[in-house]
Order: sequence, then structure tokens, then C-alpha cells
Amino acid sequence: MINIAVLGYGTIGSGVVEVLKTNGESIRKRAGDKINIKYVLDIREFPGDPIMEILVHDVNIILNDPEVKIVVEVMGGIEPAYSFVKEALLKGKSVVTSNKELVAKHGAELLDIAKERELNFLFEASVGGGIPIIRPLNQSLTADEIVEITGILNGTTNYILTKMSDEGMNFDEALKDAQALGYAERDPSADVEGYDACRKIAILSSLAYGMQVDFEDIYTEGIAGITDVDIKYAKKLDARIKLFATSIREDDKNVYAMVAPMMIRANHPLYSVGDVFNGIYVRGNVIGDVMFYGSGAGKLPTASAVVADVVDAAKHLNKNIWTIWSSKKLELIDINFVKHRFFVRADRKKASISDMKKLFGEITEVPEVVKDETAFITPLITEKEMKAKKEHISGMLGSIRVRF
Ligand code: HSE
Repeated sequence: MINIAVLGYGTIGSGVVEVLKTNGESIRKRAGDKINIKYVLDIREFPGDPIMEILVHDVNIILNDPEVKIVVEVMGGIEPAYSFVKEALLKGKSVVTSNKELVAKHGAELLDIAKERELNFLFEASVGGGIPIIRPLNQSLTADEIVEITGILNGTTNYILTKMSDEGMNFDEALKDAQALGYAERDPSADVEGYDACRKIAILSSLAYGMQVDFEDIYTEGIAGITDVDIKYAKKLDARIKLFATSIREDDKNVYAMVAPMMIRANHPLYSVGDVFNGIYVRGNVIGDVMFYGSGAGKLPTASAVVADVVDAAKHLNKNIWTIWSSKKLELIDINFVKHRFFVRADRKKASISDMKKLFGEITEVPEVVKDETAFITPLITEKEMKAKKEHISGMLGSIRVRF
């Protein structure tokens, strides 16, 4: 029997307990031994829930119990999660976590501690919910140099954009739904402003390039500025708006990363990724394109990835599974020099098409969706050029990057 402890009995923690109960027998066969939850840590009480029998409020009971071999951290946030996880590793326990904030900030250090002690620090559930992406990057795509990772990495915003587009729901209604379904973060601005996707692309990039990509360096825009009018324009263009988290290695070594809404058409592999689903598109220099798709958020999909890591940790109790993620910082290219095409809307009285032609040169006009608006797509220009040109568009109503 392998004893584990679960830190946090929220959405994911209760999912982990449920998955281990539902699939206990097949999990036992795969892990080679029974996985027993000896403790659940939470500050709250859960009257009437059988979990009360193993509920503790003091983490030291877990940390000081040598019978606990694997600690599952599903509390979220940096503190006290970081202190608990570090202490657990220092006390000889492997750790499994779904906590992207923790992994993005302290992943390199925690992996090092685990490696020095022949333990494991596993975090499959931190990116893409139930989709296997961390393990494929570490163990399957190892023959390749990764040149691009582009993902729809946030289920909540993908759900909101899909509902706005397919059902004409408004932003707030769709967000409320996502919260009720357990997809959204406690502070939904983490989803809406793109911070969650930013941490996830930082983790994937660090693993792909083997160096520390600081999430603070990643240019991040969320979907708060996307309106129903933008969605109508996207439809007119046979396009959809998706929140993309991208990291691209240009000319063999320079990497840039960004999170921003993107207009894409049906020829893009992520076009059909709707609802709460996530999709991650990886390009390697040898393999070419690979796609990962599945449930990107929610109790059971995320718990499934957590428990799969528990199984892996159980199978490698005294053996570190090597992961290359050095704490050496990868300097990203300044986003100002990255090129995109932009869809632009402006008040026609203040910015006519001929004014815009003078400003941008070759533009693609977009048929009218809203009366008295000028709408067009710019040629390929740098972010810096776009910023400068925006200053000259009086009556500017909005812009969205375009990938077609
Ligand atoms: N709030 C996150 C999302 C949960 O919506 O994708 C999964 O990390």
C-alpha cells in the first residue's frame, strides 16, 4: 500500500478523492500497489462527508509522517503551497501538483530538489487540464527541437468566446456559467485577463527550451476588450476569435512568447477547439506538427491528470524521472519586433478607408457590419509600427491580431 496525502479539498481535491474511489482497482493494477489516501488537509470542516475521518488541519501531521510517500498539492496559489511542497520534498516525499502559479514560478527549483533526492515533482494537471502535454514534451518529443507551441490554454475564456459566438450570450452571462461549472479561477480576472494562460505557456516554454521562461516577461492581453461587434466581424470574415498562448522560436534560437486574442480561420488547427476544451499545437523541427486536444478545465478531467501523476510517482518511488528545466533565464525577444496582421475598427467619420490606405499602404477592406464604421486588415507589420500607427487613427474602436 502506498500512502498519499491531499492538500486542499476544493474542486480538484474532491475530484482526486472521487477518481481514486471510482477507479481504485484499475489504478491499483497500473500503480502496482494500492493507493491509499491517508490524510486530506483543509482549513474547513466538511460535516457529513466521509472525508472527515481523514481530515487534518495541521500540515505538519502529513509532513512528519514517514508513511506518506506522495503529497498531492491542489490548493492553488503561491503561499502556503510553495512552503508545503518544498518541505514535503525536503522530507523525502514526492509531490504532484495542479498548481500552475507554483510551477511557473518555482518549477525549476522544485525539480532540482526532487532530482537531488531521487524523488519526483510532477505537474501534468497544471497545463491543459486532463490533456497529456507535460509528459509528451518531456518524454515523447525528445528527438525534436521545438520551434512553436501555440495553445488555447484557458478553458474559461474559450467557453466564454464560444458561447458569445455560437449562442449570442453576453460576456457576463457566459462567465457566470463558467464559474458555476467549476472552470473559472477563484479570481476570474486570472482567466479573463490572460494571466492563467500566461503561466501555462511559461511552463510549456520552459520545458520545451529547457530554460526558465519568466511569466512576467510574456506579453499578455486577455479577452475583456472583445465585444459582440468583434464577434460579428469575425463571422463576416469566416473567422473565430480565440485566446492564443504562443511561444515561437525564430531563426534557431530567439524565442518570443505572448498571450492575446487572435482571429483564425478554418484552416488553422485550433479553429474547432470550442467550449471548455483546450488545444495545443506543437511544431518540432523533425516531427512537424502535433496536436493535443481535450478537456482543459473542470473537476474530473484535472483530477484524472493529477491521479495519473500519482500513479507515475508510485511507479518511481525511489527514482527521479529526469526533466530538463534549468533555472537559467531565457531572454525573450522584445515583442515590439514581432510581426502580425491586425483587424482594425474605427469610426468612419474620423477615419475613412482612404485615410487608412494612406497610413498603412495595402489594406484588406472588411465589409460593413456596423453602420458608419471603417473596418480593415493591415498588412504584416511589427507591434511597434502598429502602436505608432494607432496614434494616428482618431476614432479607433479596437484591433485584434489576425493569423490568416
Ligand atoms: N481556470 C482554468 C481554465 C482552470 O479555465 O482553464 C484550468 O487550469
